[in-house]
Amino acid sequence: MNERGMTRRDFGKVGIAASFAAWTARKAAAETNSDTLKIGLIGCGGRGTGAARDILNERNENVQLIALADAFEGRVNNCRNSLENDDNEAISGRTNVDDDHCFVGIDAYQQLLETDVDVVLNATPPYATARHIEAIIDAGKHIFAEKPAGVDPVGIRRVIAAAEKAEEQGLSFVAGTQRRHQRQYIETIEQLQDGAIGDILAMQVYWAGGIPFAHERQEGESDLAYRVRNWIPNCWTSGANIVEQHIHNIDVINWLKGEPPRSVFASGGRAWLPDEERYGDIWDNFSCDYEYPDGTHMYSFSRWWPGGSDGGVHERVVGSQGESNCQDMGESGINPMVQEHINLVNSIRGDGPYYNEGRQVAYSTLTAIMGRMSAYTGRRILWEEAMESDLSIVPDELDFDLEYPLDPVPVPGED
Ligand SMILES: NC(=O)c1ccc[n+]([C@@H]2O[C@H](COP(=O)([O-])OP(=O)(O)OC[C@H]3O[C@@H](n4cnc5c(N)ncnc54)[C@H](O)[C@@H]3O)[C@@H](O)[C@H]2O)c1
Repeated sequence: MNERGMTRRDFGKVGIAASFAAWTARKAAAETNSDTLKIGLIGCGGRGTGAARDILNERNENVQLIALADAFEGRVNNCRNSLENDDNEAISGRTNVDDDHCFVGIDAYQQLLETDVDVVLNATPPYATARHIEAIIDAGKHIFAEKPAGVDPVGIRRVIAAAEKAEEQGLSFVAGTQRRHQRQYIETIEQLQDGAIGDILAMQVYWAGGIPFAHERQEGESDLAYRVRNWIPNCWTSGANIVEQHIHNIDVINWLKGEPPRSVFASGGRAWLPDEERYGDIWDNFSCDYEYPDGTHMYSFSRWWPGGSDGGVHERVVGSQGESNCQDMGESGINPMVQEHINLVNSIRGDGPYYNEGRQVAYSTLTAIMGRMSAYTGRRILWEEAMESDLSIVPDELDFDLEYPLDPVPVPGED
């Protein structure tokens, strides 16, 4: 047991519920599902449409997509058309979304949750994820939620509370940190934890890529519509690159270590992003030195710069008897983005291990957030401080008629 009341096993294998109460709740939840699992999707963009395809894969029997929700009507229509016309019969044949099950608007998720869907896939931009996770679990639905779990500590605490509630109610919760469902990673992490390269002495994680997009504002587009459509470069909508993408690599090391770091000291900046509205308010690079409770360090390097991505996207760990990229001791399996949905459906039906990845994705998201907090403030941030922080960057009220001016670019040393 560590000082935070978690054993290594609790954190690393949180998906496998141990308690009898959780098992009973899960059985009860499985019995309330109809034979056909009815699926709803919130956030019908690139990943949401992909996640719908992934859960409708032919290995999952008796699943049907019946409801869609998005902030914008065009996204709902494109998603429905694309799935209905998919070449794969398992996808097109099991997409049955009626007009009255298409919901549009910034709060469209609330209407979707009033339908009789059993499972909800959430693939909105990160700003909405924490509040949607909370609402989905409150509505008694099983969930697949894309990472990151949120963009600030207040949101993360909502996700942790929701994950606990999911366990009490036997609801399954799979997160989009798909490396946890990738055979190569699973087998390698297990061997590393069993000492395959001796004691783990140091860890490195990298996400060195270009900025995914920076759209121009369209004529007459409201502040909120523009911020939500151009969500990548704004801190409150994406969390910045360390939270939005680099979480994948950070999560691998938290998984390996069995717990999150106890502190971080970071720096970074805005080296190339031009001072234009479409490039938002984020910094474009972060370098963080994380320390784990056993005194080992993880060096984390993430950036969104044009070109020069030689650093790549990867993890590396150095042990007393060798090193590993966290995948090199495992066999390749099926696409992890499909596997995570097979695991979700089996968990819901009681045909496989119970998955509740809510806490682990919340912890890895908070690990990334505390790196950003340290870089933006210039201070060392302790895990407890991040966990208890009142930092909340998503506006409470989201309304297309209100104004959401761009925030100033953070200056280090200013809280
Ligand atoms: N696991 C992975 O490897 C992976 C890969 C890509 C994206 N993602 C994650 O998936 C999420 C979505 O990314 P994307 O690439 O699909 O973005 P996207 O912009 O293509 O899609 C996001 C969709 O959400 C909609 N949306 C925004 N606010 C909404 C709200 N309040 N209610 C309902 N819909 C809303 C948008 O209109 C859009 O259609 C992000 O969190 C991203 O980090 C994960």
